[in-house]
Amino acid sequence: MYDHDLLIVGAGLAGLRCAVEAQRLGLDVAVITKVHPVRSHSNAAQGGINAPLTDRGDDWKGHALDTIKGSDYLADQDAVEIMSQEAGEAVLELERMGVIFSRGDDGKLGTRRFGGQKVARTFFVGAITGSALLHVLYEQSLKMGLTVYEEWFVTSLIKHEGAVKGVVALDLKTGELESITAKSVVIAAGGAGRVFEPSTNALICTGDGLSLAWNNGAGLMDMEMIQYHPTTLARTGILLSEAARGEGAYLLNSDGDRFMEKYAPDYMELASRDVVSRAEQTEINEGRGIDGNVLLDLRHLGKEFIETRLGYLQEVSVEFLGIDMSEKPVPIRPGMHYIMGGIKTDVDGETGVPGLYAAGECANVSVHGANRLGANSLLDTVVFGRRSAEKASDYVKTVSNEDIPTKEFVDKDLKRIKSIMETEGKFRVSEVRNEMAVAMTKGIGVFRDQKSMEYAKSVVDKTKIKYRDSIRIDNKGKVYNTDLLFALELGNMIDCAESIVHGALTRKESRGAHFRTDLTERNDKDWLKHTLVIKDLEGEITVKTPDVSITQWQPVERVY
Ligand code: FUM
Repeated sequence: MYDHDLLIVGAGLAGLRCAVEAQRLGLDVAVITKVHPVRSHSNAAQGGINAPLTDRGDDWKGHALDTIKGSDYLADQDAVEIMSQEAGEAVLELERMGVIFSRGDDGKLGTRRFGGQKVARTFFVGAITGSALLHVLYEQSLKMGLTVYEEWFVTSLIKHEGAVKGVVALDLKTGELESITAKSVVIAAGGAGRVFEPSTNALICTGDGLSLAWNNGAGLMDMEMIQYHPTTLARTGILLSEAARGEGAYLLNSDGDRFMEKYAPDYMELASRDVVSRAEQTEINEGRGIDGNVLLDLRHLGKEFIETRLGYLQEVSVEFLGIDMSEKPVPIRPGMHYIMGGIKTDVDGETGVPGLYAAGECANVSVHGANRLGANSLLDTVVFGRRSAEKASDYVKTVSNEDIPTKEFVDKDLKRIKSIMETEGKFRVSEVRNEMAVAMTKGIGVFRDQKSMEYAKSVVDKTKIKYRDSIRIDNKGKVYNTDLLFALELGNMIDCAESIVHGALTRKESRGAHFRTDLTERNDKDWLKHTLVIKDLEGEITVKTPDVSITQWQPVERVY
């Protein structure tokens, strides 16, 4: 029998920051994660974390406005204000915990300028910022005695008498299904990037947390807002950090022109990501690309600078394409990178389902709106990870978790797993997964229209049926059955894909990353609204359109 005050699903930056805070508040805390904590996808974040520090002459309002403009006015401004106001302390606290941030020649914490921002306010550790933060938070939480259920996969939430009271989870090492009760659960299980193919995301980003929340009454908000990162490596789709452009790299087309001059004359390569990705795709579509790519040129920065400040990018370029960035431009293209949408929460992580909180990429507070600024995702994880711990800890004091019929929940999941194991369909999970993910990129891409989105929906609908009737698990064993794990993940991915296509087909305008070639204008009169996709107990899906919170920045035309 496993039981805690607070159980956090996911051990990336949001989960671990939440864990540290909840332990400081005296709770008995555990995290459950399908991989070792430092293999969480936060590990892959490269370029940095934003914070407007006043001793640099910066101010929170500047960061808030850049964020809101970047979001194409879809972010909730009350939430952005909180994130910007708390950013400085959040980053300095990480430094005090032990993160060795890169420094400038003056010995102070160094900054670089990231896209869509007027000033340099991105703090970084070379080009391995996520990894550095993750290791320090893991160290800190272990020091405080955190319980870690490592390599356990959550199959469902225990929702009893209307409140979430824990989880049912598969211990991947033994193949046993167990219940873990908790007075409160925080979902911090990361994004769903692999619903698209290719993606910069790790293969583990299968939207597990989003699906758990969605199937228990929480809404998924603005799921159509899919971020395509402007610089992913040709052929492999591996992320090449925005830090390259932040440090001065150029984007060139096949004529050797810095084409951003046409699309964003003031910000050039450092316009917001949606703008840069559309510009690149336009160059490629109009025949000024090179084999479906454009070029990222760092040659003028010099070898020593590249290797000191952008060493990881150089490694990736040499390893995967054999290109030394100081000698040749690197072919890159836009690639799926992040989902701005997620589990709708308030600024304290509350989902509206008693006992259930969410933080990090799986959540939508909403601070990113229709387009996230680079280096705001790490900030989001630590600010709202901490805040959810505070709110969940207040809640924990008001409830007990006695007499929960855990066996009922475990039996239900045992039945589901048995049925997956016994279906002798003709399709392997990987084939079905890949087919859906490729269709999602085709239909919900950098550019989209009614027809392409309907195509994506039709593939998702067919995938649901295939998943139910025609998949096959070859491995019938219990120990580390990754075949079964991938099948369970695919169920979660289908939920995410379904919510994405519903959100996309609902929004009848272009805004941020949701650029429709058949409706090219932003329409504030009718669509200064979120899309909120809800699934009821019968599996019926409805989409609501709640208003955006505007505090002090009225929407204006977005130019860079
Ligand atoms: O380009 C990057 O380093 C990515 C950062 C981010 O997505 O925030």
